[in-house]
Amino acid sequence: MAVLVTGGAGFIGSHMVACLRDAGRDVVVVDDLSSGHREVVPSDVPFVPANVADRDAIASVLDQHHVDAIIHFAARIQVGESVTLPRLYWTGNVAATTQLLETALDAGVRTFILSSTAAVYGTPERVPIAESAPARPINPYGETKLAIEWMLASYARAYGLRYAALRYFNAAGADASRGLGEQHEPETHLVPLVLDAALGRREALTVFGRDYDTPDGTCIRDYIHVMDLVDAHRAALEYLERGGESGAFNLGTGVGHSVEEVIRACAAVTGRDIPVVYGPRREGDPAVLVASPRLAEERFGWRATRSSIERIAADAWEARRRPPSPRANDAGAVIRSARPQDEEKAHVR
Ligand code: UFG
Repeated sequence: MAVLVTGGAGFIGSHMVACLRDAGRDVVVVDDLSSGHREVVPSDVPFVPANVADRDAIASVLDQHHVDAIIHFAARIQVGESVTLPRLYWTGNVAATTQLLETALDAGVRTFILSSTAAVYGTPERVPIAESAPARPINPYGETKLAIEWMLASYARAYGLRYAALRYFNAAGADASRGLGEQHEPETHLVPLVLDAALGRREALTVFGRDYDTPDGTCIRDYIHVMDLVDAHRAALEYLERGGESGAFNLGTGVGHSVEEVIRACAAVTGRDIPVVYGPRREGDPAVLVASPRLAEERFGWRATRSSIERIAADAWEARRRPPSPRANDAGAVIRSARPQDEEKAHVR
C-alpha cells in the first residue's frame, strides 16, 4: 500500500515525501509542475506529471500503486493572487479537489489529509486561535480551503471518509541536508525574502507596516519548521489509520514572532546586514496570528520540536545560500515600498 502525495514536487510536499520514506512508507508523487520542481522528487520515487483533476491519470495511479491514503498539497497558495484572480482558486483548489475526491472515493480510498491554512480564520477575535474559533476567511484563498474542509466533513458523514484538515500557520525552514528548500515563484513569504536581501539577491526587505498594536509595531506570526509540519502529517495519518476522529487541526507552535524578530534572527544566523525598507501595511494582514496547537497534541500526540525561530532561520539559510536553480530564480522582482514618502531605510543587524 502506498501514500499518494499530490504537490510532492513543491516546498512542503517534497519534505513530506522524505518524511514518509523515513517512516518506511511507500510513496507516489503526482504534480503537474505548474509551480513544483521535478528535481526535488527523488529518482526512485514514482512520479506522475499530472493535474489532480485528471481523473484517468489519478485513477491509474491509485490502482497501479495500491494507494490507500492521499496527502493533498497541490493547490494555489497566494493570498494576493486569490483576490485578483479568484477563478484560479475556485477551479484550481475547489473544483480540482472535488475531482480528486471523486476519483479517490470511486477507487475506495478513504483516508485523506488536506493542506489547509490559518487563512480560514480571517481576522481572529482572540489569540491563540483554537479550532473552535469562527472560520471567517477574508480572501478567496481562505474561502476555497474552507470550502474543501466542508466538502470533507460532509463526505466523512456520508461516505465514511476519514480526514484531517491541517491548518498551517507560517511554514518556513528547510531540510537542507537533503537539498530541499523553499522555491516559490514569485516568492512572497517573509523568511526567504529576508534571506534574499541578506544575499543581495534583492535590494531590501520591505516591512509591511510598523504601526500595528504589537510590542515593536510589526505583525506577529506563528512560524513552524517545515520538518515539524510534515511530521504532523505523518502523525495525523497514523492517527486516522488507528481510527481517530476526523476533523480540522491547527499546526503551529503557540509562540509568535514579529517581523522584526524574524529579521534579527536571520541577521544573526547569516552574519550579514539585512537592508530593510519600512513600507505601508499589506492589505488583509491581521496584527497577530498565533495557533493553539493543543488539539493536535491531544489527538495525535504531535508537537513542534524544531521550530525555534533561530533553527528555522539557520536551516532556511543553509538551503537559500545555495545558488538558485534557473527555474527558481525570481531575483528580478525587487519589492519596493509603494510610496517613497513612507519609506525609511534601515539596516537590521
Ligand atoms: N511580510 C513583510 N514583508 C514581506 C513579506 C511579508 O513584512 O516582504 C510580513 C507580512 O506582512 C506578515 C509576515 O511578514 O506580517 C508573514 O508574511 P508571509 O507572507 O510570509 O505569511 P502570511 O502570514 O501572510 O501568510 C501565511 C501563509 C498563507 C496563509 C496565511 C494565513 O503563507 O498561506 O499565513 O493568514 F494564508
